[in-house]
Amino acid sequence: MTSRSELETKLEKIDSEFAEIIRRIPKRDPQEPTPFWLHFEMIERYKVLREANIEKGMNILEVGSGAHAITTTVLAYLVGDRGRVVAVDIGRWRFVNEILAQAGLKHRVFPLAHDATSLPLQYECFNLAVVIHGVRSFRNETTITKILKEMLRVSPRIFVAESLPIAKTKAQKAHLEMYNLREEIFQARSGQKDDIHYLPLDKLTELVEKAGGEVTDSRMMEIDQPHFLACVPRGLVEKIEDEEIREDLLQRWEAAYTKLQQHGEEHLPVGIVKAKRRPA
Ligand SMILES: C[S@@+](CC[C@H](N)C(=O)[O-])C[C@H]1O[C@@H](n2cnc3c(N)ncnc32)[C@H](O)[C@@H]1O
Repeated sequence: MTSRSELETKLEKIDSEFAEIIRRIPKRDPQEPTPFWLHFEMIERYKVLREANIEKGMNILEVGSGAHAITTTVLAYLVGDRGRVVAVDIGRWRFVNEILAQAGLKHRVFPLAHDATSLPLQYECFNLAVVIHGVRSFRNETTITKILKEMLRVSPRIFVAESLPIAKTKAQKAHLEMYNLREEIFQARSGQKDDIHYLPLDKLTELVEKAGGEVTDSRMMEIDQPHFLACVPRGLVEKIEDEEIREDLLQRWEAAYTKLQQHGEEHLPVGIVKAKRRPA
């Protein structure tokens, strides 16, 4: 599911102006087995963000924007020329300028390198704050709640989307089995968890409420497209120092990798939580 023609089939089904923007972005490393992964991921973000009621001219805060501007590109498109996106990330910026420039949307985005548990903004200054597939990187429930609270401090409305730990098809099970190794692999390599297991929808909703949000909508949406991001390179697992942990993870990596090869990797359903700030 990675050729130009397969991408075109997907692009024909979405808004033609956004499809043109996706077409401007060159494929990633042509040596990769899935050189259009970024484009498919952007289409997924677009499907999810259609649920966020974004209007032209809005000022949007995006938290945990990531190294490839995947959600940022879609947001910058949706807000139009009069709108702005402030993209916050604690440290991953590598391809952001390049990709936004390729999309022709760089002028709509203000990048802010900062820890989102404490934003350098004094007042409410956004129409909406979003975190899309970012909760998994916030490491634990305390940090997730702090970040959601900050989002609700500077914006009256928030929109949270994250993959759910629900796998029905073999390709979804393959994704989940490989993805679930990430937390342990990162822990074994750096002593710190990253890419924690996906949270169930009721937990996401509970954390939004705990952060001071009044939930207005909470539901699951099917994505119906491939997903390419679960696989951790085998080389990273090979570098784990503790022999027992390394051997165990290598065995489980092999088992998960075989399933990815057999069945492909399909996007899991995504949980969406919309909330407004609960009145004091
Ligand atoms: C999974 S990635 C990016 C997801 C991106 N939104 C997308 O749509 O693909 C999550 C990002 O959250 C960032 N992050 C983790 N903890 C953070 C924090 N405390 N403040 C700001 N960003 C953080 C990481 O650096 C990482 O780039």
